[in-house]
Amino acid sequence: MTTALITGATSGIGAAFARRLATEGHNLVLVARDVERLREQATELHDRHRVEAEVLKADLASDHGIEAVEKRLSDRMHPVDLLVNNAGFGQKGAFLDVPVEDELVMLKVHCEAVLRLTTAAVAGMRTRGRGGVVNVASTAAFVPRGTYGASKAWVVQFTQGVARDVRQYGLRLMALCPGFVRTEFHERAGMGTDNIPGWMWLDADKVVTAALADLARGRTISIPDPRYKALMGAAKLAPRGLLGGITSKAGRKYGPVHPDGV
Ligand SMILES: NC(=O)c1ccc[n+]([C@@H]2O[C@H](COP(=O)([O-])OP(=O)(O)OC[C@H]3O[C@@H](n4cnc5c(N)ncnc54)[C@H](OP(=O)(O)O)[C@@H]3O)[C@@H](O)[C@H]2O)c1
Repeated sequence: MTTALITGATSGIGAAFARRLATEGHNLVLVARDVERLREQATELHDRHRVEAEVLKADLASDHGIEAVEKRLSDRMHPVDLLVNNAGFGQKGAFLDVPVEDELVMLKVHCEAVLRLTTAAVAGMRTRGRGGVVNVASTAAFVPRGTYGASKAWVVQFTQGVARDVRQYGLRLMALCPGFVRTEFHERAGMGTDNIPGWMWLDADKVVTAALADLARGRTISIPDPRYKALMGAAKLAPRGLLGGITSKAGRKYGPVHPDGV
C-alpha cells in the first residue's frame, strides 16, 4: 500500500484526488485549513474504502503551515509516495484592484509552498528510488492572466524542469493544467461564472482520472480534456498581443464585475 499527501483536499480537485486515490487503495494524508471538513472526509474515506486517512491542518500561506507539511513529507518512517500540490485560489478583481499583500499570499501558496513541499518530498523519494509529484497548475499558465496565470506558469516551468532532473532516480513529476472546473474556486474568489459557456466546464473527477492516466504514461504536463488541448494548441500559435487582448476581455466578462463597471 502506498501513501498520497494531497494539499487543498477539502473540496474541488483535491477532494476528487482523495476519492480516486482512496478507491485505488492508497492511504492518504489530507491537508488544508478547515480541519472539520478534513476530519469528515477522512472518516468517510476510511469507512468506505478501508484506507488510513490522516488529517493535517496547515495554512500554506504561512511558514508555520508549510513547515508542518515539510515535516510530514520528511518522515522516513511513514513515507509519502505521491504528493499532490493542489491548494490554490483566485483573486477577486483585476491587477491594481487586488492589494499587493494578497498577490504575495498567492505567490506563497502557489509557488513557495509548491517549491518547498516538492523539495521535501523528492528528497525521500530519491532515496527510495520511486515516487511522484502532481503540481496543479492551470491552462491560465499559457495565456497572459496576471499574477494567477504567472504563478501557474511558474508551476509548469518548475515542474517540467525538476521532472527532467529527477527522472534518473525513477521519479515522476507532472504539472496538471485544467481549464474551468466545477469546484468552489470561483465562488470563493467572488467571480461571476454565468457567462462561461457550459461546454467549457470540466468535472473534477474526470480531470483527476485523466491526470492519473497521464502520470502513469510518464507525461510531465497534462491538459486533461481534448477541447482544452485544442484551445491551448491554438493559443501557442496566436501572437501574444492578440492573446492578451482576448484574455483580458474574457477576464472582464468572466471575472468579477468592477463597481464602476470597468
Ligand atoms: N476550478 C477551476 O476552474 C480551476 C482551473 C484550473 C486550475 N485550478 C487549480 O486547482 C486547484 C484546486 O482548486 P479547486 O478548483 O479545487 O478550488 P476549491 O474547490 O476552492 O479548492 C481549493 C482548496 O485549496 C485549499 N486552500 C486554499 N488556500 C489554502 C491555504 N492557504 N492553505 C491550505 N489550503 C488552502 C482549500 O481548503 P481550505 O479552505 O480548507 O484551506 C481547498 O481545499 C488550485 O490550485 C486552482 O488554482 C482550478
